[in-house]
This record gives sequence, structure tokens and C-alpha cells, in this order.
Amino acid sequence: MKIKNIDDYTNKIKQIIITKEEIETAIKKTAIKIDSIYDGKPILLVSILKGAFIFMADLCREVTVPCEIAFMCAKSYYSGTVSSGKVEITMDIDKDISRYHVVIVEDIIDTGRTLNDVVNLLKQRAPLSLNVITLLDKPSRRIVDFQPDLALFTIPDCFVIGYGLDCGEYFRNLPYIAIYGEDDE
Ligand code: IMP
Ligand code: MG
Repeated sequence: MKIKNIDDYTNKIKQIIITKEEIETAIKKTAIKIDSIYDGKPILLVSILKGAFIFMADLCREVTVPCEIAFMCAKSYYSGTVSSGKVEITMDIDKDISRYHVVIVEDIIDTGRTLNDVVNLLKQRAPLSLNVITLLDKPSRRIVDFQPDLALFTIPDCFVIGYGLDCGEYFRNLPYIAIYGEDDE
């Protein structure tokens, strides 16, 4: 993606659909749920890079059960805003997860392919338990039958940016979730 200038950049941010405050409130509620599910048991939060890095940073600071963090990098190949259907694990968790209650922290579930592959891989390593939390869910786009244990927001079929999510690596630092659009759309 080519950004010509700052106006071109800001013009691509079409509409804020989830505000910073709405995200903060939903994360606080999610942390309370996590605390009650695990009830003092230690957990391992596994964030899927890069998109979930901000969600992970905010969620882990609200959780009060003993918690370790780990990262995994799963790349789904996009040409523009369309998924090509190929998923590759480019960085793996640096721990033996068989001793852990694992909570996967994801930014968005779209076709479901990425998390389906990640969950199948992690299940083979026999964690004590495995739950999936996603900030955003786009159920109308599902190709693989995959359901998260918890989705903070369900959104329609549109390409979104901000709060960790990118288009062409830009926009991850926006504090809200917005719809992305080209000027001629
Ligand atoms: P899936 O494998 O199709 O479920 O896609 C998951 C990955 O695609 C996410 O982790 C994101 O990195 C990316 N993705 C899917 N939809 C969007 C979007 O609307 N904005 C930005 N990234 C997206
Ligand atoms: Mg992602």
C-alpha cells in the first residue's frame, strides 16, 4: 500500500466503529471473566503477533490471576485486504505448554483459518486447558468452522484498522477500531 501524504493517510480512516473507551470497558469485563474462570490458577496468555500486541498489553494488565505471557507469530497472507488462505507459523512459543492453562489472545477472527491452525497445533502439545479470546469476530466471513470461547466485539464484513490491526503495516497505533477504505471506494 502506498501512502502519498498525511491527507491520503487520514482519508483512508473512514469511520470509527469502536472507541477507545468501549475497548477499555470491554477489556475490564473480560479480565473479570478470566479471573473468575481460572479462580487463582496460573495461566499462560499467548498473543498472536503482530495484530494482538496491543490487546495483549492492555488485557494482561487487567488480569489478576498469576499470569505468564508468550508470543507466537502466525502470518496469514493477504493481497491487499483479501486473505489468500495460507497460514505459516513464523515464530513459535518459547515454552513447553503442557504445564499450562493456555489462553490465546487474538486480534480478529475472519475466515477462521489462522486460529484453526494455531489451535490444532497447540492441542497436540496437550496444555492443561486451552481457551481462545478474540478482540473482534467477523462471523459472516467464516470459511473454517471455528468459534472463539470469547469475542469482545462482533463486527460486520468490513476491513478494519487500529488498536493493533493494520493495512499494509500502517494504522496499528490508532487507539480505536475504524473502517478502512480507499478514496475511490
Ligand atoms: P483469518 O485466518 O482469516 O481468520 O484471519 C486472521 C488474521 O487476518 C487476523 O489475525 C488479522 O491479522 C488478519 N485480518 C483479518 N481481517 C482483518 C481486518 O479487517 N483488518 C486487519 N487485519 C485483518
Ligand atoms: Mg492476527
